[in-house]
Amino acid sequence: MRHLMNPLDFSVEELDRLFDLANDIEKNMGKYAHACEGKKLATCFYEPSTRTRLSFESAMLNLGGSVIGFSDANSSSASKGESVSDTIRVISCFADICAMRHPKEGAPMVAASRSSIPVINAGDGGHQHPTQTLTDLLTIRSLKGRLNNFTIGLCGDLKFGRTVHSLINALVRYEGIKFIFISPEELKVPDYITDMLKEKNIPYEEVIRLEDTMPELDLLYMTRVQRERFFNEEDYVRLKDFYILDKAKMELAKPDMMVLHPLPRVNEISVEVDDDPRAAYFKQVQYGVYVRMALILTLLETDTDSLT
Ligand code: NCD
Repeated sequence: MRHLMNPLDFSVEELDRLFDLANDIEKNMGKYAHACEGKKLATCFYEPSTRTRLSFESAMLNLGGSVIGFSDANSSSASKGESVSDTIRVISCFADICAMRHPKEGAPMVAASRSSIPVINAGDGGHQHPTQTLTDLLTIRSLKGRLNNFTIGLCGDLKFGRTVHSLINALVRYEGIKFIFISPEELKVPDYITDMLKEKNIPYEEVIRLEDTMPELDLLYMTRVQRERFFNEEDYVRLKDFYILDKAKMELAKPDMMVLHPLPRVNEISVEVDDDPRAAYFKQVQYGVYVRMALILTLLETDTDSLT
């Protein structure tokens, strides 16, 4: 039985197969409409989320399966003091697969070690968010036709942003990737990441101004300042509007640069950018459903070749 804790749990070849399946789902939704009939997905969300949880639920419903779960810790037995290990053993009796989000780093891993059903990490603290990374990679591969030879700018909260940490982790396995980290001094990417890049000889730059670097980017990954992970509100208020991507900045970019954002957006992308053909963040949401469908099918070991 397999779980998904980290994007690196899948080899590059396995990811290719997953993305091929997601692209087939995109083209032939009807073929998959009953693939998970009789199966249940449990969404165990100890931290607020709209899109990730609904994306998982929508993915399972599109496959003909059903969904149970809770959407905040207060409405689960965690509020009575139940451990994640006990919760997952109980959930294993109710469902066939579980997507878990938790504010504590490593909690889904603890759950996986005790689980008799596949567990998907749907975000653990500031650590990893593998299904967002699968979404990001599928979006890039589908819209650009490749996952190598890019200069990618990651902008905003690179310290607390788990989507950023997961995406960097996943992209280092592809050839010709150069990272440009764009953040204020206080929100720089953690040292363990830059140490890993140095060790692997992968080029990166750390800059503060978005404007200076715009012309060289093939991809721009914008992120929200992660208010909930700050120790004091004053720091958040000072940093929250540090970057605002607007029309004027988009004029500095390549004509085919692609803008991604895991969402939710706060102020970091002005709404005037939404109509720019280079803005891919709403398409990204749609790809998130396809890739989660492909992931559920893969972890449940569904024989997709027999579907018609
Ligand atoms: C991200 C997350 O939860 O880390 N959102 C998401 O999954 N769509 C990004 C964020 O909350 O800023």
